[in-house]
Amino acid sequence: MGGPARSELAAAVSEAGGFGLLGMVGETPELIAREVAEVRRRTAKPFGVNLVPFATAPALLADQLAACFDARVSAMCFFWDVHPAIVEQAKNAGCLVLYQVGSLEDAVLAQSAGADVVIVQGVEAGGHVRGRLPLSVLLPRVVETLTIPIAASGGIADGRGLVSALELGAHGVQCGTVFLASLESFAHDYHKQRIVAAGSGDTVHTDLFAIGWPPHAPVRVLKNSVTAAAGATLWGYHPDQFPREVIGDDAGRPVYRCGTDSPLRSTTGDFEQMCLYAGESSARVTGIHPAAAIVDAMMREATAAIGGAEARAAGR
Ligand SMILES: Cc1cc2nc3c(=O)[nH]c(=O)nc-3n(C[C@H](O)[C@H](O)[C@H](O)COP(=O)(O)O)c2cc1C
Repeated sequence: MGGPARSELAAAVSEAGGFGLLGMVGETPELIAREVAEVRRRTAKPFGVNLVPFATAPALLADQLAACFDARVSAMCFFWDVHPAIVEQAKNAGCLVLYQVGSLEDAVLAQSAGADVVIVQGVEAGGHVRGRLPLSVLLPRVVETLTIPIAASGGIADGRGLVSALELGAHGVQCGTVFLASLESFAHDYHKQRIVAAGSGDTVHTDLFAIGWPPHAPVRVLKNSVTAAAGATLWGYHPDQFPREVIGDDAGRPVYRCGTDSPLRSTTGDFEQMCLYAGESSARVTGIHPAAAIVDAMMREATAAIGGAEARAAGR
């Protein structure tokens, strides 16, 4: 998660037995080097760095990759459309490559480009949403087609979600929203509280939050006054059509209405109007907990859910 997933969160997830990812889309090579060093200061466990080639100017992307390779990052995770040359570069640098995709076609492309793991994102997911299919439909199609390990992403916030993804053929899961609301996440407390307060049906899928990414990049966010003002027209927007209306500041950079910056610890301004990324999974998030407690609860619930399923099948 670009923004919330800084070193504190990535390290906490890895330390708890998960696989932490630094969300570094849009960040400078200097910040990436600092954050990688900080994760290593906090944990000796493996972790990765996530970049989004589609949303990054080529010169910055080259510098970001160089910063990761110089720091000997062992795993790179990419998102959105598949760039085989970047997969090759990361493989040549000795990295494990994870690629998050939103369609069967892109999953096949990622595998043939040399990715080691494909992350299948369903339309339930929070943040930028690449595809249109629910996880329950897309995931089995990818499982039937690919030979490499697959992680399921979108709508998963607890052990039951984990077990259902495994049942659909995934080898693991990727979670965003539930960790956005964790203690260690760099998201602003306002955003965390809104996730906790959200119920089912409180998110929308829209391309209304457009400034900051190339056109045609839909997101899933919590409903707010900006989505309410758009009424029934949640689609068909272009970043160039919006006036640059400043609604806040993040570390000296303006935050725009209809922009893609979500409120972070470093953000000030009118949080309610900002881009409040959230997956459908937000309805399952009930509190702000340490990342380790989230991982532990997920594993305990999953074990119990598997036991329950076996008992039901045995008629006990
Ligand atoms: C705040 C936020 C920021 C995100 N930023 C990124 C990103 O920078 N790169 C990426 O690959 N995915 C990003 N995602 C999408 C996640 O990788 C993942 O698909 C999603 O969180 C899964 O759905 P869930 O939120 O229901 O767990 C982001 C998601 C959220 C909630």
